[in-house]
Order: sequence, then structure tokens, then C-alpha cells
Amino acid sequence: MEQPSTTTGGRDQFRSRIGFIFAAAGSAVGLGNIWKFPYLAGTNGGGVFVVIYLACVILIGFSLMLMEFALGRNTSLAAVGAFRKLDSRFKFVGVMGVFSAFLIMGFYPVVGGWSLSYIFKTIMGELAVTDAATLGGVFDTLITGVFSPIFWTALYLVINIVIVAGGIGAGIEKASKWMMPALFVLLIILVVRSLTLPNAGEGLKYMFAPDWSKLSGGVALAAMGQAFFSLSLGMGCMITYSSYLSKDENLVSNAFIVPGMDTLVAILAGMVIIPAAISFNFEVGAGPGLVFVTVPAIFATMGPVVGKLFGIIFFVLIALAAITSSISLLEVIVSYLIDEKNMTRKKAVGATSVILFIMCIAASMSLGDWSGFTILGNGIFDTFDKITTFITMPLGGLFISLFVGWFWGKEKAKNEVTNNGTVKFALFDVWFFLCKWVIPAIILVIFITGIPSFPG
Ligand code: PHE
Repeated sequence: MEQPSTTTGGRDQFRSRIGFIFAAAGSAVGLGNIWKFPYLAGTNGGGVFVVIYLACVILIGFSLMLMEFALGRNTSLAAVGAFRKLDSRFKFVGVMGVFSAFLIMGFYPVVGGWSLSYIFKTIMGELAVTDAATLGGVFDTLITGVFSPIFWTALYLVINIVIVAGGIGAGIEKASKWMMPALFVLLIILVVRSLTLPNAGEGLKYMFAPDWSKLSGGVALAAMGQAFFSLSLGMGCMITYSSYLSKDENLVSNAFIVPGMDTLVAILAGMVIIPAAISFNFEVGAGPGLVFVTVPAIFATMGPVVGKLFGIIFFVLIALAAITSSISLLEVIVSYLIDEKNMTRKKAVGATSVILFIMCIAASMSLGDWSGFTILGNGIFDTFDKITTFITMPLGGLFISLFVGWFWGKEKAKNEVTNNGTVKFALFDVWFFLCKWVIPAIILVIFITGIPSFPG
């Protein structure tokens, strides 16, 4: 295996040290699954949101994942470089991806910081109650504060910087290998606990039985955007990661496994949080605090010792899942600066993190003292979030599928996804039809019907 270089595309580090599945699944599974999915399902009408979300994963997610894998591996270049090489008219898609990575990294570490702080709060025994007012109060005090959330955000960012600047160390490789199975096991234990709480059946009904009267363009766009966010699609992240892939790796099976795992984690997280929230009589539409309020209450029902132990494990796993996602976001920016702007890795990470830290401070402050400052009715945190999930990622996905379907050409696409005919892909024609017609059409329709609700 070649040794990773520290001055040029440190992306090789993934190829030589960490299984691609772990890197890609590590990028996909993160706060999007555990923090965002349950609360968005709660604020967007439950079942309708979940059904559209699943439809988007099936109709768009798998296929787009395969497109990004193919583009990255074919060019062995990160997003901007890949498009520059294949068709420079599409270079803007890569640039838009780097922009998306910046905006997401302008708020994601804030939430990563909250989960670090919750490890600490669980250890200190601050959360061992089931009452909504107390748990809600702890969360609100944290996020509207100044020193504390910024401190935890800074700590979270430093962890990311160390990893991305130094390369993917053996520690992270080991961590992601046991993190994913551990997360599954813990979520399943929690699903059992949650579903045996009184009235939990109501929660399942809320989550899976769609009430179509709640359908709107805004809900559809939120669900589609969440599918992009959760699968790390539409912004070049999977192109960047797959640029390290060897030519004999089976792209097709990877493109099934990664979205499959990601979706399973999201659904399990939803099945932990929504039934419990309803059982404890919490507000399911409470928004970003939902996980941080509901999960401690579940642990509180498990007794002081077991509850605390599971609580610590849970928040550690969330923080780890978040870190494996945010390093992939940071890598998109850093590899762009290295490849296109000739920066050294250290310099790229350094410059980027200063800007990101300032953005994160602004995002965090926008939930407290700066909440009066809004853009089209949204605070800074929400603006970063909505521009990416509502606009740049769906549009990125639209242009990627238009490129593959109309410009790259069927032959080239076929050779790449089937490793020049050596991998069987019986559904190739279906996939290509989806890329060319169905996916662009779905994205456009949902985007146009949903975008008027952006300000709301
Ligand atoms: N998919 C990650 C999550 O669910 C977030 C992410 C988005 C990571 C885009 C990389 C690129 O938390």
C-alpha cells in the first residue's frame, strides 16, 4: 500500500487505511440521521415526511450515489477536478459542492458541540429526569448561551482539524469499525425500550401512517433535501471519497449498501425518539432539541446506573458518528484547496478552520443573543442549513444526473459502473433511465413546488 503523502491529496489515506464502505457510510451516517431526521419528521407531519423521504432514497438516493461513485473513480479526482476533467462546463457543480460543504460546516460543528456537551452533562447527572420542562430548560440554556456552546463547538472543531490535518489515523479507522455496529446495537436496545413505553404505538402511527392532508411543497422539499443531506449527496462528497477507489471495487453493491445502512439508522433513530416523545407527552414538533430532550428521558426510565451508562455511550456514539461525517465535509473543502489552489494540506486546513470557526460562532449566537438578526425570516444557523438542504444539494444532484444522463454518455457510464463489463448490473438500463429522465424530473418538480416555502 502506498504511503499517504502529507503535502498533496491526503485523500489517499482512505484508500490505504480504511475500508471504503466505512468511509462512505461514516460520511453518510451522522447527525443527519440521529438529530435531524427525527425532528424533521416531527415538524413536517410525521408519516408524510417519512414516506416521501423513503421514496426519495429509493428513486434518487441509490442511483445518485452510484453516479457520484462512478464520476469520482473514473477521474480519480475530487469534485471540482472531476468535472473540470470530464466537461469543464460543469465545473460549477463541483464549486457549488465546496460552497455547500462550507455552509454545512458552518453549523454542523455547533450540533457536534452539543453532543459533546451532553456526554459531560450525562456524566454529571444533570439529565436524569423525565420531565419536559427540566430537560427542555437544560437544552435551551445550552444553545442560547455564549461561552458554553462556543467552547464545545471549538473542541469539536479541533478534533476534526487534528484528524484532517494529520490524516486519517489508525485510531479513527478502528473507531469507525466498531462505532457503526455499536450504534446499531444501541439503537436496537433503545427501540425496544421506547416501544415498550406506554402509548408508544401512537408514535409509530404518527411516524409511519401518512396523513396526506399535511402534504405540501415545503414538506416534500424538506424530505427530499433531508435525503440528500443524510446520504451526503449532491455536493461532491461521494465523488471525492470514491476518487480513492481501486478499479476493481464493485460500485454497484457499494451504492446499495451505503444508502441502505444510512436509511436503517435514520428509521431506527426515528423509532426511538418519536414514540418516546409521544409517550412522555413531549412536543414532537419541538424542532432541533427533540433528540436532546427525549433521549435523556428514555435513559432516566432505565435506572440511575444503567441509564447513565447507556446515556454516556449514546452521546459518545453520536459524537463519533458526527465526526466521521464532518471530516468528510472538511475533506471536500481541503482537497479542493490542495488540488485547485495548490495549498499544502496544513495550510488548507488552517485557513479553512479559521473561517469555519467564525461561521460557527455566528450560527451558535444566532440561536441566542443574535436571534434578532434574520435573512428572509431565518437566523444564521437556519440560513446555512436551509440554503444547503433546500437549494444547493438538490440542485447539485440535478446537475450531476443531467451530466451523467445527457453529457457523459451511456457507454462511458456503463464501462465505469460495470468495471468494463466485469461486474453484472442487470438493472443498468433502469438506472440510466432514472439518471436521464426520472431523477431530474422529480428534483425539478419538488424544488419548484417547495422553494416558495424557503422563507417560512
Ligand atoms: N450525511 C451527513 C449526516 O447525515 C452529513 C453530510 C452531508 C456529510 C453532506 C457530508 C456531506 O450527518
